Amino acid sequence: MRDGILIEDANESDRAAIVVLLQNTNLPPDGIESHLKNFIVIRHPEAVAGLEFLVGSAGLEIYGKSALLRSLAIHPDFQGTGLGTRLVNRIIDVAKGKGITHLFLLTDSAEDYFKKRGFVVVGRNLVPDDMKQSIEFTTLCTSSPSMMREI
Ligand SMILES: CC(C)(COP(=O)(O)OP(=O)(O)OC[C@H]1O[C@@H](n2cnc3c(N)ncnc32)[C@H](O)[C@@H]1OP(=O)(O)O)[C@@H](O)C(=O)NCCC(=O)NCCS
Repeated sequence: MRDGILIEDANESDRAAIVVLLQNTNLPPDGIESHLKNFIVIRHPEAVAGLEFLVGSAGLEIYGKSALLRSLAIHPDFQGTGLGTRLVNRIIDVAKGKGITHLFLLTDSAEDYFKKRGFVVVGRNLVPDDMKQSIEFTTLCTSSPSMMREI
């Protein structure tokens, strides 16, 4: 913990709050229930048990040695204070701990943000076939550029 900010694993009871956070940041919540065990969250420092207010979220969809980073979101009131960067760094550590070697993502709104954090735009031919079956690829972000970073 630093600055009163605690980044921790999400649990099933966080699902509704993550959906609200994603809706508030214009990201699709579809399909998160299948991957919630690989999500991390930042809770509001003054939150009490049962208060559905999350400051941040990030999740992994894992496909072998590759993972799709999705649902990176910081509540609008808390953006621009470094929390997104801390979540990216933490989710990379989580991925490394699970033996992931390649991290992919889809974004049409934060390409430059991820370029500054070591990701490069890659063609979809480099995306593993099983990852391409993710709802993010098939339904939600069909025309978004894909990005990748070796970790
Ligand atoms: C993208 C997001 C996670 C960044 O989190 P954050 O906590 O606001 O970002 P940080 O404080 O770590 O970094 C701030 C820096 O990133 C830049 N930045 C923030 N959002 C950006 C974007 N969409 N594109 C490019 N740069 C962006 C800021 O201008 C700032 O730059 P500076 O350090 O040069 O001043 C957050 O803005 C967000 O939730 N956006 C809506 C959802 C989204 O687009 N998620 C990513 C797609 S999966």
